[in-house]
Amino acid sequence: SKILFPKAIFTNNLLTGESVKCDTRKLSDLENIFLDKEAFRNMDLQQTVYNVNSLLPVKENTPGGLFFGITTIYPGKVGNEFFMTKGHFHSNLDTAEFYWGVEGEGMLIMMDMDRNVWAERMFPGSLHYIPGKVAHRVANTGYRKLVFSACWPSDAGHDYKSIAKDDFAMRLIEKNGVPVLIK
Ligand code: 6PG
Ligand code: NI
Repeated sequence: SKILFPKAIFTNNLLTGESVKCDTRKLSDLENIFLDKEAFRNMDLQQTVYNVNSLLPVKENTPGGLFFGITTIYPGKVGNEFFMTKGHFHSNLDTAEFYWGVEGEGMLIMMDMDRNVWAERMFPGSLHYIPGKVAHRVANTGYRKLVFSACWPSDAGHDYKSIAKDDFAMRLIEKNGVPVLIK
């Protein structure tokens, strides 16, 4: 069984528990993510901000297993804030993750548990290690779609609640034509 992803072909045919899924996040799913509520209200809420194609070769929570995903973030802004993912800590806090840039331009925004925030530029071929206990979110800073791959442990899980409650300590906005992190 060959499984075709936007930018990857999965050729392994020895797996049993495998499944694939595609999650789509529209602007309407991201109401509390963006800062500029006024700009948000005036936008087409049905537009897709990003989608995630995931390959789950084993069942969720299988110890030692790995998941793979390809995220596509479309270009756009809400006010002066770039289209971006919700962002999350892993529920199993110690679990790390790899991201790598495939297409387009973006920024990986990370925050540790002391709320220190930093960012890494994403571009085709860029490779990023996200340590455990570090929240991660990606923004598309370009004019084309941003595509990146990810690999994470199958027992990582997603904790969106902490971000929904306390947010990231900094946001990535466009100022004088360049992306900058602001408090
Ligand atoms: C994960 C990865 C990655 C991420 C997507 C969408 O742990 O599964 O970090 O696949 O989920 O890029 O981002 P959000 O999950 O923050 O919406
Ligand atoms: Ni993750």
